[in-house]
Amino acid sequence: MSIKIERLCYSYNTGTPAETMALHDVSLTIERGEWISIVGHTGSGKSTLSQHMNAVLIPQSGLVEIDGVPVEPKTKNLRELRRKVGLVFQYPEQQFFSETVRDEIAFAPSNWGVKGDELQARVMEAARSVGLDDGLLESNPFALSGGQRRRVALASILSMKPDYLVLDEPTAGLDATGIRELVELLGELRSAGLAVVQATHDLQSAFEFSDRILVLEQGRGIAVGAPEEIARYLLDNPVHGLILPPLVRFSAGLAGRGLTIGLTSGLEGIIDVLEAARKPCGS
Ligand SMILES: Nc1ncnc2c1ncn2[C@@H]1O[C@H](COP(=O)(O)OP(=O)(O)OP(=O)(O)O)[C@@H](O)[C@H]1O
Ligand SMILES: [Mg+2]
Repeated sequence: MSIKIERLCYSYNTGTPAETMALHDVSLTIERGEWISIVGHTGSGKSTLSQHMNAVLIPQSGLVEIDGVPVEPKTKNLRELRRKVGLVFQYPEQQFFSETVRDEIAFAPSNWGVKGDELQARVMEAARSVGLDDGLLESNPFALSGGQRRRVALASILSMKPDYLVLDEPTAGLDATGIRELVELLGELRSAGLAVVQATHDLQSAFEFSDRILVLEQGRGIAVGAPEEIARYLLDNPVHGLILPPLVRFSAGLAGRGLTIGLTSGLEGIIDVLEAARKPCGS
C-alpha cells in the first residue's frame, strides 16, 4: 500500500501570461508507515505536491496513485481518497469555524454520516491521540494556545481515521517547545502505523526523524534519499534557501578533521565522537 507519484507536472494559470510551472517531472513513492520530509526553498512546489497527495489537486500530466487508485478527473471515489490521505494545511487553525473543540473535531466524520456514540468515541480518541485534555473539548478553539490549536487541527483530520497524514509546514509559527512536542507527537502517530509526510523548511527535524527526504528546487525533485545521503548531497551541492543545520555543519567540520562521524549524528553522536577522541590511546 503506497502513494505513488510518477513524473508529475503541474502548472497554475495554464495557457495565460501568468502561467507558472509549479512541479516538473516529480517522482516519489510513500509506503505506509514511512516518514517522508519534503524540503525546499519558498516557491519550490512543496504545497503543490502535498495537495496532489490527497487529490485536492489533480495531475495535469504524470501519475498520482493512492493505494493503487489513480487520481484522475474521472475517478469516482475522490472523496474516499481524501479521507484516506489526511491533509493538514499550513496554519490550519485559521480555518476553524466551530464554536467548540468538540464540534471542530466532529465536523468531518459527521459529514460522512458518523453519528451518536460512534461520533463521540471518534472525537475522544482523536483528541486523546494528540494529547488534548478532555476538559478542553468544550472550549472555543480560538481561545487556545498556538500549540493546542495545531493539535485540534490535527485531531480534526485524525477523526477521519486516515492511513496517511500529509502536513504542510506543521511546525510553522510554533515556538521551540511547540515544535518539539508536535514532532514527538507525529513520531507516535507514525509508530502507530500512519505514514507521515511533512513539507517543511525545518531541515533539523527532517534530518532527525525522516526515513527519506525529497529535495525540491523550482518544482523539480533534485534528490531523494535517507537523511545522511541528503545531508551529504546538500553539503556538496548547496541549494538556494536551504541552510544546513548547525549540527550538520559541525559534524562535517569534525569529519573534515579526520574524525569518523555521520553528518546527521546529532548532538549525542558528536559528544560521543569528541569523548572518544579525547581518550588517550589504549585507555
Ligand atoms: N494558487 C496559485 N496560483 C498561481 N500560482 C501559484 C499558486 N500557488 C502556488 N503558485 C506558484 O507555484 C509555485 C510553487 O508554489 P508552492 O506554494 O507549491 O511552493 P512552496 O514550496 O509550498 O512555497 P512556500 O515554502 O512559500 O510555502 C510558486 O512559483 C508559486 O508562486
Ligand atoms: Mg507551501
